[in-house]
Amino acid sequence: MKHLLSIEDLTATEIHQLLELTDHMAEINQRTIPKVPALRGKNVVSLFFEDSTRTRTSFDTAARRLSADTMNFAVSSSSVNKGESLRDTVETISAMGVDAFVVRHKSSGAPLQLTRWTKASVINAGDGWHQHPTQALLDCYTIRAGLNRRDGFDGLRIAIVGDIKHSRVARSDVQAFTALGAHVTLVAPPTLLPPSLDGWPVETSHDLDALVGGLDVLYLLRVQRERMDEALLPSLREYSTMYGLTPARAAALAPHALVMHPGPMNRGVEIAVDPAELPGSMILHQVANGVAVRMAVLFQLLGSGGDLRGEA
Ligand code: NCD
Repeated sequence: MKHLLSIEDLTATEIHQLLELTDHMAEINQRTIPKVPALRGKNVVSLFFEDSTRTRTSFDTAARRLSADTMNFAVSSSSVNKGESLRDTVETISAMGVDAFVVRHKSSGAPLQLTRWTKASVINAGDGWHQHPTQALLDCYTIRAGLNRRDGFDGLRIAIVGDIKHSRVARSDVQAFTALGAHVTLVAPPTLLPPSLDGWPVETSHDLDALVGGLDVLYLLRVQRERMDEALLPSLREYSTMYGLTPARAAALAPHALVMHPGPMNRGVEIAVDPAELPGSMILHQVANGVAVRMAVLFQLLGSGGDLRGEA
């Protein structure tokens, strides 16, 4: 494995292997000094052309815990603003010696393009509406730990609710959850479903209340207002009434059910209860697991011969 561009590139066995490697990384993160020398001397460069808090800091933390050198390329203060093309930017930075690019871009397919311009590994940290593979892996890891499902997700009932149309998280999660055996239902108003669901191994529903009591995982998506160029929702209030996690829906969840959200949350829209008061809320576990999963991905791509033992 040289790049991580899409969940589609991974077999179920490869997903399981990455989750097992994540267990080792989670163990490292529990140590007093959570750092190992595995990627010493490797250079990991983040190229974020879209805003991000958690994904960027998560990759950064992951790379440092493996002792890699990290460089953050801030688009706002770069030559991109002088009209430099993505290709020239990538070739210029590559010439300094880069082992991996972590890239987020508003255009689907930008990370794939990068692989043609650099010899470094490329990790997709979110491209347009297309893919966000490390988010899907951290979501799988969170479900695997939260429901004690080390062997797979056979028989699990997962609903992904909300703005599926604009969501790279939904596309990646559907592929990963179903690859591991889960049964996935997409719940959304028709305007927030993709125009075609051909080839998506899912069911759809417009009625969250009919499903909520039978779920093992309720996965809420952010309403992506910045990606909507037309009026797809009558109002955010109506959305919240129909598709939000209200106190009544929270009360209807099975006691073991997990509630997940990739962040950032729109409080009062897709989530109208305080997640801190939901026993099944995994939202901060997702963030913590994100670091371990990204350590596993970086180690898998760059770590041949590296050592996971010892302290840096
Ligand atoms: C997601 C993203 O950017 O795709 N967030 C994230 O990575 N933490 C989801 C979102 O923005 O809604």
